[in-house]
Amino acid sequence: MNFNIASFEEYKLAYQKSVEQPEEFWAEIAENFTWRKKWDKVLDWDFKGPNIEWFKGAKLNITENCLDRHLADRGDQPAIIWEPNDPSEHHRILTYKQLHQKVCLFANVLKNNGVKKGDRVCIYMPMIPELAIAVLACARIGAIHSVVFGGFSAQSIADRIKDAQCEMVITADGGFRGTKDIPLKNVIDDALVQCPSVKTVIVLTRTRTPISMIKGRDKWWQDEINKVETLGLIDCEPEEMDAEDELFVLYTSGSTGKPKGVVHTTAGYMVYAAYTFQNVFQYQPKDVYFCTADIGWITGHSYIIYGPLAQGATTLMFEGVPTYPDAGRFWDIVDKFKVNVLYTAPTAIRSLMQSGLDYVKDKDLSSLKVLGSVGEPINEEAWHWYNDHIGKGKCPIVDTWWQTENGGILISPIANVTPTKPCYATLPLPGVQPVLVDENGKVIEGNGVSGNLCIKFPWPGMLRTTYGDHERCRQTYFSTYENMYFTGDGCLRDEDGYYRITGRVDDVINVSGHRIGTAEVENAINMFTDVVESAVVGYPHEIKGQGIYAYVILNKESEDEELTRKDIAMTVSRIIGAIARPDKIQFVKGLPKTRSGKIMRRILRKIAEGDMGSVGDTSTLLDPTVVDEIITGKL
Ligand code: WTA
Repeated sequence: MNFNIASFEEYKLAYQKSVEQPEEFWAEIAENFTWRKKWDKVLDWDFKGPNIEWFKGAKLNITENCLDRHLADRGDQPAIIWEPNDPSEHHRILTYKQLHQKVCLFANVLKNNGVKKGDRVCIYMPMIPELAIAVLACARIGAIHSVVFGGFSAQSIADRIKDAQCEMVITADGGFRGTKDIPLKNVIDDALVQCPSVKTVIVLTRTRTPISMIKGRDKWWQDEINKVETLGLIDCEPEEMDAEDELFVLYTSGSTGKPKGVVHTTAGYMVYAAYTFQNVFQYQPKDVYFCTADIGWITGHSYIIYGPLAQGATTLMFEGVPTYPDAGRFWDIVDKFKVNVLYTAPTAIRSLMQSGLDYVKDKDLSSLKVLGSVGEPINEEAWHWYNDHIGKGKCPIVDTWWQTENGGILISPIANVTPTKPCYATLPLPGVQPVLVDENGKVIEGNGVSGNLCIKFPWPGMLRTTYGDHERCRQTYFSTYENMYFTGDGCLRDEDGYYRITGRVDDVINVSGHRIGTAEVENAINMFTDVVESAVVGYPHEIKGQGIYAYVILNKESEDEELTRKDIAMTVSRIIGAIARPDKIQFVKGLPKTRSGKIMRRILRKIAEGDMGSVGDTSTLLDPTVVDEIITGKL
């Protein structure tokens, strides 16, 4: 069985084999990597525990696969092309040789600062090559990285650091995003007040913002590099890792409680990220591949760093935002570096679409061959705009559905192989066995149906646990439906057997492709001094996909409602981060509750959507009159 799928016929054969003989299928795929020792058994699993082991007994290091093995053939080929926020600053190119050297040096910095295999390292950095270097350096020595997105608050970072008991933080003085300087080190200083586990902070210089540097704890990146160079610690042998040794944790929101640390392990994740990268995008040698995600999210982990580098690709990293200095920035980058594959999010497409075609019209986009979409359902209008004005009707759009927990893409067209259909993620990739299930857990057979999306068989890239709390992993993903992984998404399967993801069916909202738990936002709002209770739901938002709508009960009438709204939003920014700020806050006297005290979110969702006609029967509510009051006061 070939690693590369080149035709729809081959896809069907690969898919069939992956279902009928999964161990043989994945063993053949895994032969394409560098192993210190091959596996004893390809797969051991049960979804009850859950207990999932891929390539059991194998030994490897993922960076040996992402770096060392490419040195002989493509050592001088660009591994990372980096485009800065400010177009007048010079871009940087790191060849595989240079990236390898830098990763080795920084790995020695980590070791020199006492970081060992299994230790947790928090990374809070801007989108610059040193972020990728820090990630790979951790993997080189077997430290577990926990990258935190630059938009999270000090409190969110502290929660994540404490949960994983990180020993080190790697950060920068600040980061540039559009017109803003983000004060990363200041935020870290605030977070660390709560985090005694952190012994060392390595600080890279990027914005030259004044920052505090605490003797004994805080160290300059460059000084530490100089130290190991002086000691002659240039090369760094990759640590030999077990297939199931933890590679990283990445925190993500669910319907309850605080974000959980999704844990990915080494071999299965690597094989899956590389296999899906190669096939979905049909990457050809020397292609320039540009994924616009942030490395703080799973898309950046799997499809900026690990997948592309494992395949020896050239991956383009962009520091800034799509609208700076203007809404033509992505197209300038495509033109400047002759980008062949572009992978972005519907929210970015919608926002650029709104800016109009003036920003596209004089740009040379002829290098583009494949377009990708990820993070949320893509609406028809955005799909057609992307297809017509960016792909000029000649580039397949791969609408890739997957999740942090999945490690890699699960349902997606394979570029130029799978016939596409607007807004459809189309068919499962080899190894992925989706099922639709009704509310009672009954599997819905046949086509032209919809239900809750589950996966009934393990794939190599799936999560293994949630950090420090295996029971939570079982509860969240494996207890709703017996012997199945539950995705939290609703889905329809049309007459052709094509899948279309319709959105979350749990209390998670997807704001500009960022997953936010309504419970988390409510907790943050409830911390505001005058709030008695709140309820948060999503509502359709033209650019963000979903916006955050908060219903809030205050303990006294506000004298200045506009200011109180801003105060509440500021409180949420402090507790979670600016990405969770409510778009709308409506003050209400009461919330629709059942007699047992449960908030009827369905009703609140309908009102937020402006769909008053579908509010439905309110007679079972404790106090049906609150609904009229809420409708009257709707924003
Ligand atoms: C949603 C991002 C429709 C979905 C990789 C999922 C999508 C959540 C798509 C995971 C898509 C992601 N079409 N919906 N192509 N891709 N989603 O963990 O609701 O940040 O459950 O992973 O995003 O978000 P996460």
